[in-house]
Amino acid sequence: MAKIIIRNRNNTTIPANPAISLLQLLGRNNIRLPIKCGGRARCGYCRFTMHEGLKKASAPTIFEQKFKENHPLPDNVRLACQTYIAGDCIISLGEVTEN
Ligand code: FES
Repeated sequence: MAKIIIRNRNNTTIPANPAISLLQLLGRNNIRLPIKCGGRARCGYCRFTMHEGLKKASAPTIFEQKFKENHPLPDNVRLACQTYIAGDCIISLGEVTEN
C-alpha cells in the first residue's frame, strides 16, 4: 500500500488514499491542522510541502489555482484540502524551504 511520510512530524507514516483529500486523510489519522475555511481553498492553513512524489498528487483544482493566483506559492507547496495522493510521497506540513 502506498504511504505518505510526514517528515516534520517525526516521519509519521499514514497510508495514502486517493479517494479523499489529504486534509481528510490527515484528520482520519488524528493529525489536525488549524484551518479556518473548512476546506474551501481560502485560508491556506492546510498548505503542505511535497519533498518527493509530486507526480503522485492530483493536479491543482480550479480552487487551488485561484488561491495561488492571490497567494503565490512554489509548485511543490499544495493545499491539503484540494490534493488527493495516490502513491508514495514525502511531505512536510506547512511551507518549508529545505529539501
Ligand atoms: S483548509 Fe483552508 S485552504 Fe485548505
